[in-house]
Amino acid sequence: MSRNTKAFTTEDWQAKRDQFVARGVSNGNRHLAAKGEGAVLYDIDGRRFIDFAGAIGTLNVGHSHPKVVEAVKRQAEQLIHPGFNVMMYPAYLELAEKLCRLAPGAHEKKAIFLNSGAEAVENAVKIARKYTKRQAVVSFTRGFHGRTNMTMSMTSKVKPYKFGFGPFAPEVYQAPFPYYYRKPEGMTDESYDDMVIQAFDDFFVSSVAPETVACVVMEPVQGEGGFIIPSKRFVQHVAAFCQKHGIVFVADEIQTGFARTGKYFAIEHFDVVPDLVTVSKSLAAGVPLSGVIGRAEMLDAADPGELGGTYAGSPLGCVAALAVLDIIESEQLNKRSEEIGKAIEERALEWKMKYPQIGEVRRLGAMAAIEIVRDEKTREPDKAAAAKIAKYANEHGLLLLTAGINGNIIRFLSPLVITDELLEEGFGIIEEALEQL
Ligand SMILES: Cc1ncc(COP(=O)(O)O)c(C=O)c1O
Repeated sequence: MSRNTKAFTTEDWQAKRDQFVARGVSNGNRHLAAKGEGAVLYDIDGRRFIDFAGAIGTLNVGHSHPKVVEAVKRQAEQLIHPGFNVMMYPAYLELAEKLCRLAPGAHEKKAIFLNSGAEAVENAVKIARKYTKRQAVVSFTRGFHGRTNMTMSMTSKVKPYKFGFGPFAPEVYQAPFPYYYRKPEGMTDESYDDMVIQAFDDFFVSSVAPETVACVVMEPVQGEGGFIIPSKRFVQHVAAFCQKHGIVFVADEIQTGFARTGKYFAIEHFDVVPDLVTVSKSLAAGVPLSGVIGRAEMLDAADPGELGGTYAGSPLGCVAALAVLDIIESEQLNKRSEEIGKAIEERALEWKMKYPQIGEVRRLGAMAAIEIVRDEKTREPDKAAAAKIAKYANEHGLLLLTAGINGNIIRFLSPLVITDELLEEGFGIIEEALEQL
């Protein structure tokens, strides 16, 4: 019997959502998605939405890319899930080999696959602890690593991510991270870097001893924290500090990976080779998959059975990921990412001239954001205005997300297969939203 979903209107579904789905899950847009194609989504009433959200950075290759669809279809017909630790299958091994070759560094690498981003971070911590025989974990102010107990403990933003959910995992510490737009007035970026680097070193005197730290986990560009881009000098300092003290340096590339910043991994922009890399989101174009890739001796620290999970690295996820890697290469998405980023930057800088609410425009590749403030001088974050822009966009055919510890950042995470025409149309809707402020 087929499900007769046509009988229900959008309002009916919304009522069902409110009656049967937990309130704790947020919905940026209350329409009901029915079909996706490239950078466009259609709802059940045929309404078209240009997608600048990409399922929060999950769809760099776009919705239902034909190569991904074909790979998943073929796999589903053959074999859905034997369970990798019951009987292994080629797609997992092929993907592990590809990612080990792609990840930064010429050293010997290994990989493990899991399901969600948080699970990848959890496993990176487990691997680092087992390898170093140390317990402490260091993340950064404004960092985001997920919603499980450990990753929530590593995450910065209290509301909504942590409030009321304690007690948190012990031995988790948050180190300072630079935010150049909010540096003290009159300070140069260089002297601000000096200050944050000093604060980072001091943190290992005042908060946690380096010889007790298993890993430092860093997003090369902070995602949920507001698309904050650190300097090369800061990232290199952190990596060198880790190396000096035998600490595992983990690059959390869950939001930044797979061409979002114009490279396979954002950490490549900083000329740093991390010990471990966590991946998810755009890795598998919407099929749940995550992983940890890194130094072979670290991945091998845990004994058989100590890592893994029932669905971890499912064949459907692995074949989708293999298709994604093919698409990034054949459609030159790293190059396209830079073009998209440039187009956003150019347009957003025009808006900045016109609208004093735009405090800063920043980007790395297509990982671009505009920071909304009450006043150019005071730089006071304006969460309400950012929410208004996102709300207007979502009501007028553009899926658009905010970010930031203060919720005042508009971020761009459109599929990288977006056409110039759609990009332009999306900009037009944001302009209307800015006019409404
Ligand atoms: C950098 C980073 N790490 C981890 C996560 C958690 O991923 P998931 O929501 O799949 O658990 C996210 C999700 O936004 C993320 O951006």
